[in-house]
Amino acid sequence: MAVPDKILTNSDLEKIVDTDDEWIVSRTGIRERHIAGANETTASLASGAAMRALEVANLHPGDLDMIILSTSSPEHIFPATACLVQDRIGAVKAGAFDLLAACTGFIYAVNLGSQAIKSNGAENVLVIGSETLSRVVNWKDRNTCILFGDGAGAFVMQASEEPGGVMTAILRSDGSGADLLSIPGGGSRHPASMQTLYDGLHYIQMNGREVFRFATRVMAEASQQAVEAANLTMNDIQLLIPHQANQRIIEAAARGLNYPMEQVMVNIERYGNTSTASIPIATVEAFEQGRLNPGDKTVMVAFGSGLTWGAALIEWTGPLPYRRKVSPRKVRWFARTRSILARLRRRIEGFIWGNG
Ligand code: UT7
Repeated sequence: MAVPDKILTNSDLEKIVDTDDEWIVSRTGIRERHIAGANETTASLASGAAMRALEVANLHPGDLDMIILSTSSPEHIFPATACLVQDRIGAVKAGAFDLLAACTGFIYAVNLGSQAIKSNGAENVLVIGSETLSRVVNWKDRNTCILFGDGAGAFVMQASEEPGGVMTAILRSDGSGADLLSIPGGGSRHPASMQTLYDGLHYIQMNGREVFRFATRVMAEASQQAVEAANLTMNDIQLLIPHQANQRIIEAAARGLNYPMEQVMVNIERYGNTSTASIPIATVEAFEQGRLNPGDKTVMVAFGSGLTWGAALIEWTGPLPYRRKVSPRKVRWFARTRSILARLRRRIEGFIWGNG
């Protein structure tokens, strides 16, 4: 995982909008969130998390076949942020693309990565969830600006003869609720203009109460469907890793599943809602705290804009035995040099062929 150094606390927010720590903690469970600095972007956070994941997995970026980057705050409309990450880490033979399923995106991405491996389309897949929602939040809107934080998390998924990995996945959507949580401006429907800026259409717009009602309904339902599809029950699950949107939504999901809160991973108090990055960040912390071990079964469950929702039942396997030692410093140096040489070659070719 990778999060910005800068922390914004609830008392910092009290100085920006009409809110208070007590309201934010009691309604959301959030105490602080990380906010990207001037030089931090969705790609830089994603690359940081990616390098760390490759290091843990002992996998060289050159061995990656595919990079799936889930985000709702891409660097540009296009090119895909995944391609910027591919260049930064030097994943020379990987296909790369972005996936947009909002806060549910990481569940979609993990399932896609797993399907690519199972169908022999790929051996090593890097799945990343990365966000800098602080860049698209209206810092004058107390309904939304208190919720979101920035960060990234990444998984390396690998083909293996051992049982485990993604056992089942439930992916759902309902576009009739598209207007409940959106950034309406800047796309082809409302291209960026003085008017869209004036109307604030480039900011996150949210009907919090409706999203809340939807979330409390689908989180337990999707988790239940994911375990039933594997002929298991929640009693077989060691850890529930929910999307970290609101402590009350998480507790409602646990109640709906009759599942003990002690077995639910919660870290929303320190990160806020990092959208699609929240599940991989929570997973990394669960792993580091010894709450997720090889052989454990976990359900990851999320909901978000779209509307989308989904759950994945995963048997955690941990890194495969040693492959190629990864030196992050060397990898970064190689990637940067390769990128500079590739740009230089393009310029020289353009000059020679007369279009440079
Ligand atoms: O990844 C998915 C992202 N979205 C979500 O997860 C959002 C889901 N929804 C929620 O988490 C909750 O609906 C919120 C945390 C956004 C809001 O909590 P709520 O308990 O649903 O509050 P509310 O919208 O019903 O507002 C209650 C009151 C209102 O005042 P009045 O009309 O009762 O006088 C709001 O104006 O709280 C007021 N309020 C605030 N007060 C202090 C709204 N935001 C704030 C604030 N500080 N930041």
